[in-house]
Amino acid sequence: MSDQESLSQLLLEKLNLLQSPNEKINSLDFAQENQFEHQKIVGAVKSLQSLGDLIQSNQVESKRFELTDEGEQIVENGSHEFRVWSAIPNDGSILQSDLMKSIPDSNVSKLGFAKAMSNKWIAIDKSSGKPMVKRNLTNVKDEIRVLLKLVQSGAANKLNDSQRNDLKKRKLIQEILEKSYDIQRGQNFQTTIEKPETDLNAEMITRGTWRTKKFKEYNFNAKGIAPDRGHLHPLLKVREQFRQIFLEMGFEEMSTNNFVESSFWCFDTLFVPQKHPARDLQDTFYISDPAECKDIPRDYMERIRSVHENGGDCGSIGYQYEWKESETRKNVLRTHTTAVSARMLYRAAQEFKRSSGASGDDKEFKPLKFFSIDRVFRNETLDATHLAEFSQIEGVVADRNLTLGHLMGMIKAFFEKLGINDIRFKPTYNPYTEPSMEMYSWHSGFGKWVEIGNSGLFRPEMLKPMELPDDINVLGWGLSLERPTMIKYGISNIRDLVGHKIDLQMVYDNPVCILEPRQQQQQQPVTV
Ligand code: PHE
Repeated sequence: MSDQESLSQLLLEKLNLLQSPNEKINSLDFAQENQFEHQKIVGAVKSLQSLGDLIQSNQVESKRFELTDEGEQIVENGSHEFRVWSAIPNDGSILQSDLMKSIPDSNVSKLGFAKAMSNKWIAIDKSSGKPMVKRNLTNVKDEIRVLLKLVQSGAANKLNDSQRNDLKKRKLIQEILEKSYDIQRGQNFQTTIEKPETDLNAEMITRGTWRTKKFKEYNFNAKGIAPDRGHLHPLLKVREQFRQIFLEMGFEEMSTNNFVESSFWCFDTLFVPQKHPARDLQDTFYISDPAECKDIPRDYMERIRSVHENGGDCGSIGYQYEWKESETRKNVLRTHTTAVSARMLYRAAQEFKRSSGASGDDKEFKPLKFFSIDRVFRNETLDATHLAEFSQIEGVVADRNLTLGHLMGMIKAFFEKLGINDIRFKPTYNPYTEPSMEMYSWHSGFGKWVEIGNSGLFRPEMLKPMELPDDINVLGWGLSLERPTMIKYGISNIRDLVGHKIDLQMVYDNPVCILEPRQQQQQQPVTV
């Protein structure tokens, strides 16, 4: 039998002993008499209640007085005034300051002194020029302590109103509101507890015993147990939505599982000069072990060297500096997913070259549409909207004779799927694209055009060394995943979205992400 069952049993037996069925037992009294925790008795009452009309119970509220910590102290050591009086020698006097010092707790000495004076238990004699304190009475009764002891023993009702109020005012006692149950026998009272059936089973039906069995009633108010399960972080939910959009548009996902990348793929293949500020230690995390990347395709690396130094055979003059292999081998935490796009384009170019012989010009080129959504790292100053890592969404398209019009059309189609129909473009600079454009969208909340991404047509200086045929152009665009996620879920500080300080409840409770088409907004055209 469980603890609760034996308590329930005890309660039933106690009820059975009562003279009249109308007599009541109070759960608090019962707990006190039998030295049980009241909460346990409440549990037993509730379980008996669920068994039909075995008992009848009524919740009642009662007030009770209890000692405060200070009250408890007084019961132990005497009242403050009594302690002050006791500290004075029986038949002499003591310097007031010595008296005060003799009681370590200054609260006790100050209050006790004032109270003992007003009780006229003690007096000050200044005839010697110094304040000397002596006893006024040879015997005093510590009434406060007596009263508190009464309260402690549960006999607060023996105090009169003014005594009670005085103790309350001095914060020695406090009133507690207690909820308890008055219990009496119910209509179907009996002392044996028959557990009702919780399930109807096949045997009960075939034998017909269900007719006489008692069944436990359904508790339709029970909350039930939340099933254990995993939860998707908001970034993963929004990522899934973007992935769906790319898939609907016929894009193929690139494999992005290398956070560590060589400077070669992260910068050099993208025609980012070796002295570019993005490659500074302040902007990029360099890896110390392994510090260098060993496997870089030799031929391709030499073509990259010459395109940087003098433009190679791209009709460009390059950057006119001495390109260093040691610099390109440095491993970094990738600063953008365009490094992944570069790898994919190089691989596609090489495959195309192999399948079409030396010059692939007349061979049919199967257009490529790739996307990726993954993490990148930058050595940023951290603030409410910047962390040292974030996620990028990137789309890349390669085909013959692509133009700026194709890029703009592709981006428009992409954002329309998000319900953003008002894209504007602004020229910008990227080392690897020309022309390059930032994308802006009207943000009705901020009341201004906000930047939502970056894009461009990849430069010949990037594509030619890969050995893509001349008339194959590649366009691309990128945006962050965090920004739309923060807007979607109304999060204004990125530290509430990512990192060790996030509230996991936020992750549990956030709804699935559905990027609904936005309402057509009233726009105030702004030139950007
Ligand atoms: N790599 C760019 C960025 O980090 C985005 C981009 C991708 C731009 C492709 C042009 C082409 O912002």
